[in-house]
Amino acid sequence: MQNRFGMFIHWGLYAIPAVHEQVLARGDWRHEDYEALAGQFNPVLYDPDEWVRLAAEAGMRYICFTAKHHDGFCLWDTKQTDYNVMHTPYGRDTLYMLAEACAKHGMDLSIYYSIPDWHHPAAYNPLSSHQWKAKDPGHPDMAAYIAFVKAQVRELLTGYGKIYSFFWDIPPQIGDPSVNALVRSLQPGILINDRGFDRGDFATPERTVPEGDRFTAMTEACQSVGAESWGYRAEEDYFTARHLMSSVDKIMAMGGSYLLNAGPTAEGVIPEKSRELLRRIGRWYRRAAEGLENTEAPARTYTLRGREPCIVTERGGSTYFHFWRGLDTTALTFLDEDLPTPARATLLNNGAALTLRYGTLPTLMDPDHVARRQVWSIADIPADEIPDEPPVIRVEWA
Ligand code: GLC
Repeated sequence: MQNRFGMFIHWGLYAIPAVHEQVLARGDWRHEDYEALAGQFNPVLYDPDEWVRLAAEAGMRYICFTAKHHDGFCLWDTKQTDYNVMHTPYGRDTLYMLAEACAKHGMDLSIYYSIPDWHHPAAYNPLSSHQWKAKDPGHPDMAAYIAFVKAQVRELLTGYGKIYSFFWDIPPQIGDPSVNALVRSLQPGILINDRGFDRGDFATPERTVPEGDRFTAMTEACQSVGAESWGYRAEEDYFTARHLMSSVDKIMAMGGSYLLNAGPTAEGVIPEKSRELLRRIGRWYRRAAEGLENTEAPARTYTLRGREPCIVTERGGSTYFHFWRGLDTTALTFLDEDLPTPARATLLNNGAALTLRYGTLPTLMDPDHVARRQVWSIADIPADEIPDEPPVIRVEWA
């Protein structure tokens, strides 16, 4: 994927109760009461320019917006249902406003669209999870529902400019290649995730940090700033910036993209705590990005003496060592016999030039006596000065 770091936005009526984006199904709401929240939706402080500026500050290049979540409420001027933002006190097309702000700031826009729809009477699909179980499922009719989905897709992909990627949610377990064919015909070049009516283009590990050093397929991982909810939650359990930076570093060094979510409030504001986190991550990310964006897997392997897990990327002749879990020691020694000669080593986190040493490996500790060899070390790494960031070290070769 060309864009590697993006902002996920979960926003909808559920921001009003401020508990969870699926509060309608998981809480004890009656359907009528939840849908009546549309009569209160009035995000008077909604300023999409602010969201876009925040994303840019974090180093992000695209925003993925929940046009419709499982509750079925639509955040654009859809003609397919009245259950949409135009029929609220706010009465303005929130997606259109965001699309304008993105275009103005050169931010790409992606769309999230839930296939489960707890409002549409034909939408019940027993093959898929996240269906509304408590309500009379109406008259399940997937053919009719897919026609509705296609009509909405047509609106979303023709009325809002260029759309970078399409994020279906909750695999319907029904194959229908005509749906993504429509998506592609309306937006040539769009990327589609793997949660729709066919496998699409990219995988979507959610809230996990996958094992391994390298993804084998196109991947966009997603995570939220809080552990409890994707939608705004008043009593959220926020992740630490350290944890999120580690995840971003690991997943992006593996070649994946990373979509980090924030849930704006019912007034339309991204909560202060989320903003702080995104800015904090951005301060690290913008320095580490050269070792993450447009990089490749290394052309060779490196054997570092040490315990810390490390993923290596390369770009333009430089090699980047990502210690996504942090460093335990202040020196790294290469055990490779055929190591090219390092010319310079830099800690990207603070730009510190690191000491390069060529000498005999300190011996007595080493049972294999590999120690007699002459080896290169990177020494005096000021890791303690960046205790809450994953260190990224750039090595330029002679
Ligand atoms: C899960 C949740 C859903 C959320 C999505 C984001 O599927 O059920 O509420 O929108 O993750 O990837």
